[in-house]
Amino acid sequence: MLEVKGLRKVYEDTSRTVEAIRDVSFCVGEGELVCIVGPSGAGKTTLLKCIAGLLAPTAGGVIVEATPVVGPPPAMAVVFQEYGRSLFPWMSVHDNVMLPLKQKNMPAARREELVRDALAAVDLKGVESAYPWQLSGGMQQRVAIARAVAYEPHVLLMDEPFAAVDAQTRADLEDLIRVLWRRLRVTVLFVTHDIDESVYLGQRVMVMSQAPTVIMEDVAVDLPDERTQLETRSMARFGELRKHIYSQIQLAKQGWRPPAG
Ligand SMILES: Nc1ncnc2c1ncn2[C@@H]1O[C@H](COP(=O)(O)OP(=O)(O)OP(=O)(O)O)[C@@H](O)[C@H]1O
Ligand SMILES: [Mg+2]
Repeated sequence: MLEVKGLRKVYEDTSRTVEAIRDVSFCVGEGELVCIVGPSGAGKTTLLKCIAGLLAPTAGGVIVEATPVVGPPPAMAVVFQEYGRSLFPWMSVHDNVMLPLKQKNMPAARREELVRDALAAVDLKGVESAYPWQLSGGMQQRVAIARAVAYEPHVLLMDEPFAAVDAQTRADLEDLIRVLWRRLRVTVLFVTHDIDESVYLGQRVMVMSQAPTVIMEDVAVDLPDERTQLETRSMARFGELRKHIYSQIQLAKQGWRPPAG
C-alpha cells in the first residue's frame, strides 16, 4: 500500500544545510495502523511531508498504491497538529468538510451525504453552520478529522493531531481514530510524541533516531485488537511495550547511531 524506499532529506538554503533524514525504508500494508515516535527534531514531520508529496526527497522515494509520489497522492488525506490553522475561519463547518470533496467527480447529493456521515461519525451533528472559531479545540480537531474522513482516503496521515487538546478529549479522539480505522479499513500513519498513545493506537510503533534520522526499531504491538482506555492501558503487556519504547527513545536522545555496515 505504502512503501518508503531509501528516503533521504537534506534541507538546504543559503545559510545552512540540515540533514533531517539519512536513510529510511519501510512498508505499510493495506489497512495497517502504524505509529511513529521519536525525539523532537527527529524528522517525523519531514517524513510525513515527503510521503504526502508536499516536500521533494533529496534521494529515494515513496510509492503509494503502486504509484511513485511526485505530488499529493489523490487517495491520501492529512491531518496536522494545528487544527486552528488548517480550518478556514471564514467557512462554516459544513463548507470546511465539503472543500476537498469539490475536487471529486461525484453527484452533489453524494457529497452532501459524505459530509453528513463524516460529521456524524465524529459526533458533531448540529454544528454544520457554525464557524470553526466558535468551537472548542477538541471540536475543531474533530472537524479536521471529519474533513479527512469525508474524503474517503485510502491512506490517512496524522502529525501529532492531538497535541493541543486536553487529556480527556485526547482519550476520546484516540478511541475515535481506532473506531474509524476499523470501520473504514483505511491505512493510517500516525505521528505522536506520546509513547502511551503510540502503544494504545498502533499495530506497530516505529521508533526513529535523532536527525539525521534512521529507523531505530519497528515494534510490533501484540495487544488485542479490542482496546479500551481503562483495560488496555492497565495490561502488563502494555506496560512492557511502553517501557521498552521509552528506553529506546532515551537511547535515541543520547545520540544512538545504527551499527556500521
Ligand atoms: N523548512 C525547513 N528548513 C530547514 N530545516 C528544516 C525545515 N523543516 C525542518 N527542518 C529541520 O529538520 C529537522 C527535522 O525537523 P522535523 O520538523 O521534521 O522534526 P520532528 O521530528 O517533526 O520534530 P517535532 O517532534 O518537534 O515536531 C530539524 O532539525 C529541523 O530544524
Ligand atoms: Mg513535527
